[in-house]
Amino acid sequence: MSSVEWRDAWQHALYGPRGFYRDERGPRGHFTTATHGTPGAVLAGALVLLAREHALTHVVDVGAGRGELLEHLHSADPTLRLTGVDVVDRPAALPAPVEWVPSPGGRALPDDLQRLSGALVIAHEWLDVVPCTVGEVDDHGVLRALEVDRVTGAEVLGRPVEGPELDWARTHWPASSPGERVEVGLSRDEAWTSLLRRVHSGLAVAVDYGHRGGERPSQGTLTAYREGRAVTPVPDGSCDLTAHVAMDTLDHDDLIDQRTALRGLGVDGATPPFTLAAQDPQAYLGELERSSASATLTAPGGFGDFLWAVKRVG
Ligand SMILES: C[S@@+](CC[C@H](N)C(=O)[O-])C[C@H]1O[C@@H](n2cnc3c(N)ncnc32)[C@H](O)[C@@H]1O
Repeated sequence: MSSVEWRDAWQHALYGPRGFYRDERGPRGHFTTATHGTPGAVLAGALVLLAREHALTHVVDVGAGRGELLEHLHSADPTLRLTGVDVVDRPAALPAPVEWVPSPGGRALPDDLQRLSGALVIAHEWLDVVPCTVGEVDDHGVLRALEVDRVTGAEVLGRPVEGPELDWARTHWPASSPGERVEVGLSRDEAWTSLLRRVHSGLAVAVDYGHRGGERPSQGTLTAYREGRAVTPVPDGSCDLTAHVAMDTLDHDDLIDQRTALRGLGVDGATPPFTLAAQDPQAYLGELERSSASATLTAPGGFGDFLWAVKRVG
């Protein structure tokens, strides 16, 4: 068995030349996120409102998939300047005005993404696919980086975690019992900071599933998905590899759950009045669909528990 540290194996499996995210179908071919379908349209409407509240005229979607959220944003407000960033070339089906910047993937961002001005920068489910060191405490209480076999997914303990990663773990995710796992979030913090450095003025919002200090999962959260199903994490490029984000360690001004964030932007899930059904059945059905999508976006135990880390810049 030849083993590689999880962080390197993960990077190669998702963003290498035959990486999972280079697949033509994109993430949508394997799982659904809140940016798809009617929930995506409702989310886009809320983001347009957020942009207007802050007088921002440009929305940059980092980790844009195949542009699903951008399409909804364009429909919601065609006057917005829109830019997508992801690891593939510009999807041909995107509306003509939408700009696109190809990215290396993982924690690395494109060099020509710079000096974003008056921009609302959204990173929706980006950081959970930024590879991080996965550690496990050994029988002597030492946190070691796990190595993984690229073919079978079998894990072995490797070198002790050290330097800034060990500092991060001690500060944010202390673990000392043998067998406890730690997903060292330093690479996500650095990726996020690198994105913030590219914003000259505006608002950056990371939206992801995650945890805060005091509620870290002692067995970690590393999970794989293939065609909608959770499968054994094997870094062979055939499945997504994701781990929850330590959202509180990202540089932020506000950290709130999605339910609260969206309620503040008018997404209340209220059902349309019955009288509309008689007056305009078509409109009633449309409103009903949006109200059900709003409930999906704010549901406890689901998308409503996602966290928004918000940072104002400039
Ligand atoms: C879980 S998917 C989310 C896609 C979309 N935002 C959504 O919510 O449906 C993560 C996306 O992030 C992209 N990604 C990962 N690292 C990236 C990077 N450094 N720059 C741009 N996109 C990246 C992946 O290629 C993938 O499309």
